[in-house]
Amino acid sequence: MTEQIPRWASETFWKKTAIWVTGGSFVLLVVLTFDSMKQISAGSSRVQAYSVINKDVSYRFDKSKQRYQPVIGDDAPLFGKTLNEEESEKLVDLGKKTVQAKNCMNCHTLLGNGAYYAPDLTKAWLDQGWGAKESRESLMVNFLLDPEKNTRTYGSNRKMPNLDITQQEAEGIVAFLKWMSAIDTNGFPHNFKAIGEEE
Ligand code: HEC
Repeated sequence: MTEQIPRWASETFWKKTAIWVTGGSFVLLVVLTFDSMKQISAGSSRVQAYSVINKDVSYRFDKSKQRYQPVIGDDAPLFGKTLNEEESEKLVDLGKKTVQAKNCMNCHTLLGNGAYYAPDLTKAWLDQGWGAKESRESLMVNFLLDPEKNTRTYGSNRKMPNLDITQQEAEGIVAFLKWMSAIDTNGFPHNFKAIGEEE
């Protein structure tokens, strides 16, 4: 008498299981890829539309989430000029391309990517180092135009070199940094001290 093989021990059962698990994982991956693309695009709940550069961006500790979160406030147009969505994107894009062309990541990190010589730039727009919100825009532009003269160093003695950035490029970089600071990065970078923080 031949012994009956239980269903779970049969070869066809495991073949079918393998096919279903592989197929199911593939479908899940495709769905998650589209979902991630949606979430990391400008204009989603975590990544603001480019026109956020027309608004006040502040950084507040969310007690329920136990982490810092960007808060979008009232109108605060960059360089005193309200830009529409298309103009905002153009300015932010100029900044991003300048950051790439000048290879800022050779010293800095952006969203955690890059080198560790100089501070992370993700929240640079919100850095306490700029002193007051009112003077920040011009301070940042002047710093980018001539970092050697306007060096801040935070006691690190490291200095940013002059990178031959034009006025227009500097304004683009400031727009790019302001837009990036509005991204909800789950509290990254850790231990960041924001401008105007009440504590
Ligand atoms: C050779 C290294 C180096 C490169 C390349 C470099 N930086 Fe810097 N950067 C520094 C150092 C060092 C500091 C901190 C010293 C200081 O503040 O003077 C700094 C500071 C800054 C700050 C102030 C940071 C803050 O949190 O307030 C900004 C903004 C900045 N850099 C932007 C840029 C941009 C944009 C680029 C590319 C166009 C760039 N840096 C390229 C070295 C560099």
